[in-house]
Amino acid sequence: MKPRRNLNKKTNHYAINACLAPVCSLHGLAVTTIEGIGSSKTRLHPVQERIAKANGTQCGFCTPGFVLSAYALLRNKPKPSMKEVEKSFQGNLCRCTGYRPILDGLRPFTEENLCGRGKECCRNRESGDLGEVPAPASCSPSAYVPEDQTQEPIFPPELQLQHDFSSKLLVFKGERTTWYRPATLDQLLELKAQYPEAILITGNTEIGIEVRARNICYPVVISARHVPELLQVKEEDSQISIGGSVTLSTLEEVLIKASERLPEFQSRFHVAIIEMLRWFAGPQIRNVACVAGNILTTRRISDLNTLFIATGCYVTLASKDQGQRKLPLDHNFFISQRKTLVQEKEVLVAVHIPYSKKNEYCYGYKQAQRREDDVAIVNAGIRVLFQDNSNVIDNMSLVFGGLATTSLVAHNAAKQAQGRRWADDLVPDMCRWLADDLPLSQDAPGGQVEYRRTLVSSFFFKFYLTVQLHLMQCKQGQPAPKVLSSDMSATHVFHRDPSRSTQVYEDVPDDQSLDDAVGRPMPTMSSVQQTTGEAQYYDDMPCADGELFLTLVTSTKAHAKILSIDANEALAMPGVHAFLCHKDVPGSNIKRPVNEDEIFASEEVHCIGQVIGAIVANSRIQSQRAAKKVKVEYKELPAVLTIEDAIKAESFFPGGRTIVKGDLDKGFGQSDHVLEGELRMSGQSHFYLETHVTRAVPRGEDGEMEVFCATQAPHFAQAVAAEALGVPANRINIRVKRIGGGFGGKQTRAFVVMLPVLIAAKKFNRPVRCMLDRHEDMLISGGRHPFLGKYKVGFSKEGRLEALDVTLYSNAGHSTEASVGVLDKAMVNVDGSYFIPNMRVTGIICKTNLPSNAAFRGYGSPQGIFVSENVMFDVAAYLDIAPLELQALNMYKENGLTHYNQHVTNCNLQGCLDQLLEQSNYVTRRTEVDVFNSENRWKKRGIAITPTKYGVSYGGSGFLDQGAALIHVYQGDGSVLITHGGTEMGQGLHTKLIQIASRVLKIPVSKIHISETSTSLVPNATVSGASSCSDIFGMAVLRGCEIIMDRLEPYIDANPDGAWEDWVRAAYMDRVSLSTTGFYKTPDVGYDPKTNTGMRFNYFTFGAACTEVEIDCLTGSHVVRRTDIVMDVGKSLNPMIDIGQIEGAFLQGYGFVTLEHLKYSPEGSLLNRGPGSYKIPGCGDIPGVFNVSFLKGASNPRAIYSSKGVGEPPLMLAASVFYAIKDAISSARADAGKSRTFRLDSPATSERIRMACEDQFTKQFPPSEPGTFKPWFVNA
Ligand SMILES: Cc1cc2nc3c(=O)[nH]c(=O)nc-3n(C[C@H](O)[C@H](O)[C@H](O)COP(=O)(O)OP(=O)(O)OC[C@H]3O[C@@H](n4cnc5c(N)ncnc54)[C@H](O)[C@@H]3O)c2cc1C
Ligand code: FES
Repeated sequence: MKPRRNLNKKTNHYAINACLAPVCSLHGLAVTTIEGIGSSKTRLHPVQERIAKANGTQCGFCTPGFVLSAYALLRNKPKPSMKEVEKSFQGNLCRCTGYRPILDGLRPFTEENLCGRGKECCRNRESGDLGEVPAPASCSPSAYVPEDQTQEPIFPPELQLQHDFSSKLLVFKGERTTWYRPATLDQLLELKAQYPEAILITGNTEIGIEVRARNICYPVVISARHVPELLQVKEEDSQISIGGSVTLSTLEEVLIKASERLPEFQSRFHVAIIEMLRWFAGPQIRNVACVAGNILTTRRISDLNTLFIATGCYVTLASKDQGQRKLPLDHNFFISQRKTLVQEKEVLVAVHIPYSKKNEYCYGYKQAQRREDDVAIVNAGIRVLFQDNSNVIDNMSLVFGGLATTSLVAHNAAKQAQGRRWADDLVPDMCRWLADDLPLSQDAPGGQVEYRRTLVSSFFFKFYLTVQLHLMQCKQGQPAPKVLSSDMSATHVFHRDPSRSTQVYEDVPDDQSLDDAVGRPMPTMSSVQQTTGEAQYYDDMPCADGELFLTLVTSTKAHAKILSIDANEALAMPGVHAFLCHKDVPGSNIKRPVNEDEIFASEEVHCIGQVIGAIVANSRIQSQRAAKKVKVEYKELPAVLTIEDAIKAESFFPGGRTIVKGDLDKGFGQSDHVLEGELRMSGQSHFYLETHVTRAVPRGEDGEMEVFCATQAPHFAQAVAAEALGVPANRINIRVKRIGGGFGGKQTRAFVVMLPVLIAAKKFNRPVRCMLDRHEDMLISGGRHPFLGKYKVGFSKEGRLEALDVTLYSNAGHSTEASVGVLDKAMVNVDGSYFIPNMRVTGIICKTNLPSNAAFRGYGSPQGIFVSENVMFDVAAYLDIAPLELQALNMYKENGLTHYNQHVTNCNLQGCLDQLLEQSNYVTRRTEVDVFNSENRWKKRGIAITPTKYGVSYGGSGFLDQGAALIHVYQGDGSVLITHGGTEMGQGLHTKLIQIASRVLKIPVSKIHISETSTSLVPNATVSGASSCSDIFGMAVLRGCEIIMDRLEPYIDANPDGAWEDWVRAAYMDRVSLSTTGFYKTPDVGYDPKTNTGMRFNYFTFGAACTEVEIDCLTGSHVVRRTDIVMDVGKSLNPMIDIGQIEGAFLQGYGFVTLEHLKYSPEGSLLNRGPGSYKIPGCGDIPGVFNVSFLKGASNPRAIYSSKGVGEPPLMLAASVFYAIKDAISSARADAGKSRTFRLDSPATSERIRMACEDQFTKQFPPSEPGTFKPWFVNA
C-alpha cells in the first residue's frame, strides 16, 4: 500500500499490487507494509486484531493482502459502508476461508456496524433476544481494542515537501534498464524524441504483466505518471477532458461528481463508463492503471475503448516535433494489437469525453468468466442517437471487444439501422447485420466462438429493450412498442446487497472448566502472526551465506523423444553455476516409493511441463533468465490428451476395477423406466496461494540434510529424498512449520520441486531454494482429476431407484501418483446419499500426456457424488417430479448397505435434511422461485438441495490410519511442547490438538505450543489429508497426554491443592520422565478391493445444502442468492474452525462446479496458468445470504470426543449451486419450448449456462461439427 500526498496536502492511501510496482515508481511516496501497521510485540492494529479474532485466517498466506486493503480503505474513510468493504477486496483472493469471516472481521468498522446477520443483528432487535443463535463476537465491541486514528503512522515529514520530488526529472540507471521520470510535458516529449523506442508507462499494469510473463526487457522506460499536464481534468461546455495519466479510480470519482452536477441526459456517457468501471479489475489495479494505458493497450479486452469509441471521444496527442494534434477514437485509430495512429514519438495527453444529447442513449456491457476482477470475454459499447422528437434512428455506434485483436466497430449494421424505427422488427435484422459485420472463425483465439457471437446479439437485445423503456418513459416520438413486463428482466443491471450470514452451533456446557478448550470457538493459534505478517513461510526465510537458487527447465512437448539438450548459453550467463539433469542424480532418478516417474526426464517427455533439468545460480532472477536459454531438441510422438482420446486409443493405466452389488439384470428388469446419461467434470487447479517451495540446507556431515519443504507428506518426502540422494533416511530431516494452502496438491506433487533442490544442495554442499512462480506451478503440478461418468439407471414410476450401471473414467495424466486412490474414492462415493439395491461400478484410469493429476480435497469423492446427483436430477426431470421428492425417497436409512458392503450406521441424513428444510424455508422459497420464473423471461431463478454422505478415513488396507505425537513438559515453568505427524496448512489442526491437550492435561491453551512437524521428531507419519488428521493425531495427542497425567498422578494426589507447575516440578525432582509419545491406529478399518469386503470407512460425515441462484439467460452470468448448510460434525472440537472449513470447502467446491475451467491447447499446453485467466471464486462470489449450522444433538462414537472430520465433506455441497443453476436453465428452456432434460457439464461456466438457455439468439450460431476445425482449447 502506498500513501501519497496530493496538492491540497491531503494524504491518500492506495492499495496496490507490489509485483506490478517497480521500485522506481515509488520515489517520493511512502510505502506501508503489513509490518508497519502493528505487531504482536507492540500493538496490533485494530484491523489485524479483528480479522484474527473473526478467524479470517486459515493458511494465512493471503492475509497481509486483506489487512492492507482494509487498512487503506479505513485510512481514507474511517467509517465505510459494508459495500465499500466488499469493493475494497475485489482484487484480493483467498483459497481457504470462503471470505465470510474476513468480511465479519471488518463489520465493526462500518457505518452499519452490524453483525453478519445484517438487519437481523441483535442490535436491531428490541429485546436483544437471539433465540438459539448466539451473538457473534462482532456484536460485542468490548471484545476489541478501541480504534484510535492518532496511533496511525503519519506521512513521513521528509516526504511532505513533495514538490521537491515531483518537480525534478529523475533518472534511475539499472543493470539492464534506465528509468526516466519526467516532471513536465516538455521533458516527456523531449525524452520521447530522444528515445522513440523507449516504452512509456503510466500504471504499468499491462507492461508489468508482459515483462514478467514474456521475460521482456525494455532498456529505456519513461514513466509519464507524474507529468502534471497529463493529470489534469477539465470540465467544459460540451465535454470533459481527462489527462492520460489520470488513474481509473480518479476517473470514476471525477465522473460520479460530474454526473451529479450535469442534467441526467447530458451525463449518460459518464454513467455508462462508471458502470463499466465497477467491473474493471480490482482497486489495486484501478488505483494505478491510467486512462492512456487502457486506450493504448489496444487489446481486445479493453473495457473503456468500446465506450470511448461508441461515445465519439477523441484524444489529444503531442510530440516534440509536431506539437499537439487531435484524433477521433474511431475504427481508424486502432489498427491492431498495440498498433494505433499514435506515432513513435507521440504521447497521449488527454481523452475528451463528450456530453450526451437529449435523444441519445449509451450503455456498456461486459461478460467475463467471473463477475469481479476479470477481463471480458466480450464487451460492448452501444450508442444510439434518435432524430429530434422521434424514435427514428439518426445514427448508431456498435462497438465490440473480445472478438478480434482490438475493439471492432460494426459499421454496416450501424449504417443499415439509420432511419429505422426503434421497434421489435429491428432486433432480428440487427442480429443478422451484426453477425455479418463481426464474423469469427471456428479456430479463433480464445475459443467459445458460438458463445461470443451469441453475446453480441444478446447485448444488442438488452440495449434495445433498455432504450425502449426510456422511450416509453419519456414518450419520445411515436409511441414505442410496450416492453413486456416479462422482458424487463433483460434490462436489469446487476446489483447485490452486501452478503449476510449466520453461523449456528451449540455452546459448551456451563459447567465445563474454563481451562478445557474442547468445543470452544477459538481462532487458529497463529492468526495473530498471520495478520501481522510475522508468520514465516519458507520463502520468507532469510538467505544463508552462499545460498543458491534453482529454476526448473521443463518440456515444451506433450510427448517426444529428447534428442539433445544444449545448456551452453545458459551456463555462460552471469551467476550461473550449473545445469542439472538425470545424470546428476546421485541415487535413483525414479521417484520411489511414490511412483515410477523420473525426477528429470532422461529419454522421453510425457507432458508439457515435465521436468527435464534445472539451472542453479546465485539469484532467483539469474536462474530464471538462464533456464529460458536452455535449448532442447525433440522428436515429437503422438500424444493423447483427453479422456475421449484415451478411450479411443485404449490408453489406460492398470488399477481400474469393477464393484458389483445385487443383480443388475434383475434390477433393470423390474424397472419401469431406464435412462442413460453422461456427464463430464473438468479438473481443478489447487491454486493454493503459496506455490511449491523447498529450501534445503546441507549439514556438512554424514550426508545430513535439513529440508524445509511445504509438503503435506513429510514422511514420504523423507523416503523419496533418501532414494534420490542415495543416503539412509535417517540423514534427511524434513521440517514443515506451516503450509500456505495444500488441499492435497502438496502431498506427492511437492517432490517435483523438492528433489531437484536436494540434488543441487548435495552437489554444491550449499543451501539451495526454489519457489515456483504461479504460471510454473500451474503448468507443472496437475490438479483435480477430470472425470467422465456414463450411466444407465433403472427406476420405478414413483422414482425409486432399482439399478445403476455406471462407468467412471478419470484422466490421470502421464503417471498414476494418486490416481488409483482417487478413482477408488470416486467409485465408492458414486452412490452419493442414496440406497440403490443393484449396482455395477466400473472405474478406468486414462493415461494421457498431461501433467500427473493429484490428490485434491475430497480425492475422487466429489466426482462420484456429482454423478449420483446428476442421476437424481435427470430422473426427476424425466418423471417431472421435484428432485427433492426423489432424493428423499431414495436416501439411505439407518444401516443401509452400500455397494462396498459397509452399512451406513448412525445415519444422520434425514436429520440434516429436516433441519435444512426448516432453516432454509425451502418450501415457501420453491414457490417464490416458480412465481419469479413465470414472471420473468430473461432472468431465471433456481433452487436445489443436495445432501452428502462422506466416508472418513484413508481407506485401503488401513495402514495409513495411524498417527503419533511427541509430548514434552518442561519442568521450569510447566509449559508443554507438542509435536505430531500432521502438518498445519490452515485447517486448524494444531489449534484443535492444543485444545485436546488442554482437556487432558487440565491446563489453559496458553501453556501449550506446537512449533512444527519434523521427521526427526515424529517418524513414519501419515500424509495429512482424508479429513482424518484430528481423528488420528488428536487421539495420539490424547494418549500421550494421558501417559503424562498417569505419571503426574502421584504428585497430584500428594498435593491436591497444588498447581500444574508444582506437580511437574515434583515429578521432575523425583526423576520422572516428562516426555512421551502417544500412538493411535484407527480400529477395525481395512478394505480389500479384490473381495469388496472389510470396513472401508471409519464413519460417515453427513450434511445437506440448499442453494438459490439467479441466472441471466442472455449472458450466462449467475449469482448465488442464498445458501443454507446443515452439517453433522458430531460434537465439534472447535466450532469456529469447523465453520471455517465448511465455508471454505463450499466455496472451493463452488469454484469447481462453476468458474474454474482448465483449458488445454490441442498440443497439450495448459492455457490458463494464472489468476488472470484462471478464476477462483472472489469475495463477490459468496452467497448473498450464507447460513451455516451444525446438526443439533449430533455425536460420533468412533472419533475423538465425539467429533467428526470436516475438511472435505462440505465441498460437494456446492453441487447444490450447480443443480440450482440447472433448475434455472430448465425454466428458461421451458419458456423457449425446449426439453427440460438436457446435459450440462461441470463447471457450469457462463458459456455453458448461456448456450443451454437456447433461444432465437443461440439459434443464430449452431455449433460446428467436431473434427471439422481445430479448436482453440480442448477439455481434458
Ligand atoms: C489484474 C489485472 C486486471 C485487469 N483487468 C482489466 C479489466 O477488467 N479491463 C481492462 O480493460 N483491462 C484490464 N487490465 C489490463 C490493464 O490493467 C488496463 O488495460 C490498464 O488500463 C492499463 O493501464 P496502465 O496505466 O497500467 O498501462 P501501462 O501498462 O502503463 O501501459 C500500457 C500501454 O499504454 C502505453 N501508454 C501508457 N500511457 C501512455 C501515454 N500517455 N501515451 C502513449 N502511450 C501510453 C504504454 O506504452 C503501453 O503500451 C487488467 C490488468 C491486470 C494486471
Ligand atoms: S487463508 Fe486465505 S489463502 Fe489461505
